[in-house]
Amino acid sequence: MNDREENTMNLKGKVAIVTGGNSGIGLAIVLELAKQGANIVIDYVSHPEATEALEKQVADLGDQAIGVEADVSKVDDLQNLIEAAVQRFGRLDIMVNNAGVETRTSVLDTTEEQYEKVLAINLKSAFFGTQLAAKQMVKQGGGGRIINISSVHEDWPMPGNTPYCLSKGGMRMLTRTAGVELAPHNILVVGVGPGAVATPINLSTMKDPALMKKLDAAIPLGRMAQPEEIGSVVAFLAGDGARYITATTIFADGGIMQSSPGL
Ligand code: BGC
Repeated sequence: MNDREENTMNLKGKVAIVTGGNSGIGLAIVLELAKQGANIVIDYVSHPEATEALEKQVADLGDQAIGVEADVSKVDDLQNLIEAAVQRFGRLDIMVNNAGVETRTSVLDTTEEQYEKVLAINLKSAFFGTQLAAKQMVKQGGGGRIINISSVHEDWPMPGNTPYCLSKGGMRMLTRTAGVELAPHNILVVGVGPGAVATPINLSTMKDPALMKKLDAAIPLGRMAQPEEIGSVVAFLAGDGARYITATTIFADGGIMQSSPGL
């Protein structure tokens, strides 16, 4: 391998877990990390075949991916993901807490069930994913990266999407607090805050031309992001070039946060 190839294989030999790696931003993260040479563990909820196509795509890039059945809102299942990474690939270098859902419900109409679901999948899983990954990284030594896929809405209200905003606000402080606590171990904790991205979570908006027009107009760059444009930020943050970034969030939002209310 010459120097140039080495540069483009920033993550050669590294091992990553990407929660929610089967679709949307998570899928793009898996592929971007694999392009950089990482081997990857992906969770699936009930159908093993859900990860098969993705495992093959990763294999075509020259790396390995394995699917593991896990409900990331359960601590035991998260532990199984970590154990699968260690058993199969010997270590864990990069934990991407990406799994996320939203209910698009307001303060007045959110049910207890909706509240619990969003907070469990988005925030509880990120907290325990961080904790368990950090334990493994401390045990193996040499540091690591924890990347929390947040949102512009960790900071910025989105009326009508309250539980989601709460979960991302919590994630904001998880990133900052865990980043400070884990810095002595050289475990870096960074958030990524996308704006509107063309993924299944935004399907209803994407199907509504009038809403899309309004959304595009509100974004200074004039369009939604493609998932790869978030995946590439995560690949950068997982690599050596980002070794001095921790306890903060990097926004990749086309400028939307500076210009309008959440849509
Ligand atoms: C939300 C989308 C919203 C976007 C921009 C994302 O985090 O998931 O529903 O359109 O932020 O406001």
